Amino acid sequence: MATNRTFTMIKPDATGAGHTGKIIDRIIANGFSIKAMKWTKLSLADAQAFYGVHAERPFFGELTEYMSSGPIVAAILEKENAVSDFRELIGATNPADAKPGTIRADFAESIAANAVHGSDSDENAAIEGSFHFSEREWA
Ligand code: CMP
Repeated sequence: MATNRTFTMIKPDATGAGHTGKIIDRIIANGFSIKAMKWTKLSLADAQAFYGVHAERPFFGELTEYMSSGPIVAAILEKENAVSDFRELIGATNPADAKPGTIRADFAESIAANAVHGSDSDENAAIEGSFHFSEREWA
């Protein structure tokens, strides 16, 4: 069942480059409301647990080291069709393939340092949101 929620992280390349505010503005301007949000940092073990589904991929080491290399912003977002609309807003995983005007086209550096994460299903949105937030952190 669709929950109309998705989960995002603004990644270390984007927080480090000072893009956080611009990305949050873009998210809100596109009709998403923020249910929970925090500025935080993943340990390597946190990143390995969060991206556990990719453990067998050749880029797992690069991805988890990168995601634990600096601050991130984690957020739960709400909108009708949140998962698919957010993936449309952020653009393709590889910024070289992202459509003009998408967040990754405008702010991402590379396929690993790709500015933002967006959940790929309602089920994963719930799992990923719970990884970062307890229910008393929601508003
Ligand atoms: P994200 O949406 O956070 O989900 C998994 C991440 O793995 C993805 O964004 C990319 O940042 C990363 N990723 C996917 N493919 C590659 C790759 N070939 N090399 C490095 N990182 C990758």
